[in-house]
Amino acid sequence: MKLGLRLVSGLMGLLGCAVAVAATDSRPWLDAGLSADARADLLNRELTLDERIGLVHGIWSRPDRDITVPPGAIISAGYVPGVPRLGIPALYETDASLGITNPLRLRPGDGATALPASLAWAATFSPELAYRTGELLGQEARAKGFNVLLGPGVNLARDPRNGRNFEYLGEDPLVSGVLGGQAILGIQSNHLIATIKHLALNDQETNRHWVNARIDPAALRESDLLAFEIGIEIGHPGSVMCAYNLVNGPYACGNDFLLNRVLKKDWSYPGWVMSDWGAVYATDFAAKGLDQQSGEQADERVWFGDLLKTAVQSGQIPEARLKDMTRRILRSMFAAGLFEHPASRSGAIDYAAHARAVRDVEAQGIVLLRNRDHALPLTRAAKRILVVGGNADLGVLSGGGSSQVYEPNTDWRTAIRVGGEGRSGARRNMVFHSSPPLAAIRTRAAGAQVTFDDGRYPAAAAALARQADVVIVFAHQWMMENEDVPDMSLPQGQDALIAAVAKANPHTIVVLETGGAIAMPWIEDTAAVVEAWYAGTGGADAIADVLFGQVNPSGRLPLTFPTSISQYPRPEIAGWGRPEGEHFDAPHPEGAFVGYRWLDKNGQAPLFAFGFGLSYTRFEYTDLAIRGGKPLTLSFKVTNIGERAGADVPQAYLTSMNGSRSLRLIGFQRVLLAPGESRTVQLTVDPRLLARFDERAKHWQVAAGAYDVGVGSSAVQQSLHISTHLPGQTLPP
Ligand code: BGC
Repeated sequence: MKLGLRLVSGLMGLLGCAVAVAATDSRPWLDAGLSADARADLLNRELTLDERIGLVHGIWSRPDRDITVPPGAIISAGYVPGVPRLGIPALYETDASLGITNPLRLRPGDGATALPASLAWAATFSPELAYRTGELLGQEARAKGFNVLLGPGVNLARDPRNGRNFEYLGEDPLVSGVLGGQAILGIQSNHLIATIKHLALNDQETNRHWVNARIDPAALRESDLLAFEIGIEIGHPGSVMCAYNLVNGPYACGNDFLLNRVLKKDWSYPGWVMSDWGAVYATDFAAKGLDQQSGEQADERVWFGDLLKTAVQSGQIPEARLKDMTRRILRSMFAAGLFEHPASRSGAIDYAAHARAVRDVEAQGIVLLRNRDHALPLTRAAKRILVVGGNADLGVLSGGGSSQVYEPNTDWRTAIRVGGEGRSGARRNMVFHSSPPLAAIRTRAAGAQVTFDDGRYPAAAAALARQADVVIVFAHQWMMENEDVPDMSLPQGQDALIAAVAKANPHTIVVLETGGAIAMPWIEDTAAVVEAWYAGTGGADAIADVLFGQVNPSGRLPLTFPTSISQYPRPEIAGWGRPEGEHFDAPHPEGAFVGYRWLDKNGQAPLFAFGFGLSYTRFEYTDLAIRGGKPLTLSFKVTNIGERAGADVPQAYLTSMNGSRSLRLIGFQRVLLAPGESRTVQLTVDPRLLARFDERAKHWQVAAGAYDVGVGSSAVQQSLHISTHLPGQTLPP
């Protein structure tokens, strides 16, 4: 009996041909009218042992990795063959959050739109933009034939020296969870599976395969795990990627607590856990909650191939567990629509439209940190503009590692070899996207004389600076996966360069292209500082629009800029300088007090606070009202009291519970306001942000009592305060 016409994927899908087939009694799982759960159950029963094993491990599909990439696979991060007999599609996996990657450019000529750093889209504090960013990523991934996107990453940025902060969404669990969740919705709207990563505490790259993150489990629930929990609730990603490091003893990918207890039991997560590439150490990880071994050549052995088969046959790993692994994979495939919407290499990407879209993300994510005497926006009075350093004549910097994107038609003269020995030596290249800030400034400064100095010699740049009306110094900090930086300085003498130029000319504006927070020993001598992160395709135009006032800056810091690393819990990165292969502990004494919470707890003032960012207009907050209860709601009025239209991000913080100080962001909203315009903002507070996690009872507990809330423009600046009394409340984990 026919159940209806359905589309299924197979090898044909790869060729761009969707195949219409009928769901029949023999293939009832093809009935798209059934739930993903029901369909997964029906199909899962049909698999043989070998077919199951085939689905739970995959290759690193790169010819440089001693493998032959099978016909039909795409050279990329990963490939898991399907089961043609049953119409199960293969998984074509690609990185990730900053655009569709082309590892080592092994797919000749296949570039992609380069998104700005995730920190830039976090700085927009805009769930809508995060969704649109994910949508764009998903669209490009799909057009290139992929059906699994290996992002986004929501690890909290606990340390400014972490080499991957630029791939994450900052230090706060609410911002990371909400924006990450929205990005997942956007990605999966293209019938793709998104992967939230890296569960959990992959918060340093130094010896990441051997570091054991030690943290109080309740504090973990209230911080990094909360970001994952919120992201998963909002976005329903098909997969979760576990991390390289160990967490409180076991490896993250063989961690019963993280995977079985928290993710699958407490959160009832129905999708599958895939390993990071090279993060599996035993077949037994299957019993601990890992469902799939990815990029298996990166591991010492193919643990989830014949070894797992033998373990199942001998009863060492229960067969029911293997069935659960494949069921989870199939369920996510159905939920994302992989059968009805097979991957196809349509190649249909409107790069020009995508370039405009990502330029907009960058424009809204740039943070104006300092603006003495309205040095910005630049006026026509500046007739002699000197641009210094940062390879501003070349392009905008991007971060290195598995997230590295190459734009279509990348000009290879815009990559600079950093070099060095060791594992990453050959991969250390600073890739600049071909959007030179110097040219963008020249276009906007018609009538002015714009000159450039490469900034190699501070004295030469300072001499030129003395003769300029305005100096714009571009400074960058290149970061790369697999390594951290030793401190918060700008490399290659750029701090000395800025200091010399700013001393020579008080109208010095610094534009930063950094992978996160840096120290600014020269700040007092500068007129303005702009944080542009890694700017992505068309990023120079976004930067120049902010400098010249076509765009009113509205980014807010998604992470704290401490004055120096001494304000943070780890003066030295754990394991720094240690040989590879030795396990060691990285204590996390800050627990859930990450970034702004840690500084607040210790009574310290940052250089720039979490949530901070200036505008060319001004905002005022009034009329704060609170309604206690379940849930707690807040309302207040924001008014643009300046002369220009602009977007603001008012933020609500819990400041204390029952008299004990505790700073937590509990709500935010981005609002665009014309001059003189007011808007009432309503926020509903997630009760977990008011609660403590009780690890013994395994639930959240909101204590009955007095709660103080502040509303304002950053973690250290709240102009409105209000208190309420809340009844006690117990929430499921
Ligand atoms: C990274 C992951 C990435 C994977 C596949 C790993 O090195 O940690 O984030 O998705 O490689 O390229």
